[in-house]
Amino acid sequence: MKIAVLVSGGGTNLQALIDAWHEDRLGGGELSLVVSSKKGVFALDRAQKAGIKTVTIERKLTAEQKDFDSAVLTALSENNIDLIVLAGFLSALGDAVTEKYKNKIINVHPALIPSFCGKGFYGIHVHKAVLEYGVKITGATVHFVNEIIDGGKIILQKAIDVLPSDTPQSLQQRVMQECEWVLLPKAVEMICRNEII
Ligand code: GAR
Repeated sequence: MKIAVLVSGGGTNLQALIDAWHEDRLGGGELSLVVSSKKGVFALDRAQKAGIKTVTIERKLTAEQKDFDSAVLTALSENNIDLIVLAGFLSALGDAVTEKYKNKIINVHPALIPSFCGKGFYGIHVHKAVLEYGVKITGATVHFVNEIIDGGKIILQKAIDVLPSDTPQSLQQRVMQECEWVLLPKAVEMICRNEII
């Protein structure tokens, strides 16, 4: 399977995928393309270092959602992409993309869906909300992407304890390290091996 990873930031989840790929833990999947919705982000450096082709499609320079979707679709089809992995991708994909790639797009979310998800719940905001609410368990979810934000079928989840001493930053770090970087390559491997759907 040819895989595109869509990013907007530091790319630690992309790095987890690159490491898994180099260790032959992606079930034969190939990281063929990295698409960034922001220029100059560190995820692009990680991709280039790993020899993966990159494309930057700046969401803020595209007037309408349909123009952004159309540019993304062109990049995907030009590179014969079979599976799309959203790894810290902070721009929405419109129906044109989610319909064409139904059950072929997955996302990693830094909480246990259906808690702390949907509009406004991304990155550090999720962990701030978790601490404000006072829940004692959090984690990460890998799920299929459909037209509803964080609303697609769940593939994998992993939970960790919230510690009394946690700050949003410490929680984010543990959720990434213990949950996201483990679950995302595992989910890709399962899909590439045809172990789900
Ligand atoms: C990750 O924690 C990812 O789960 C989150 O953004 C971070 C990106 O980090 N994604 C969302 O919040 C999407 N709703 P990374 O660029 O280092 O992989």
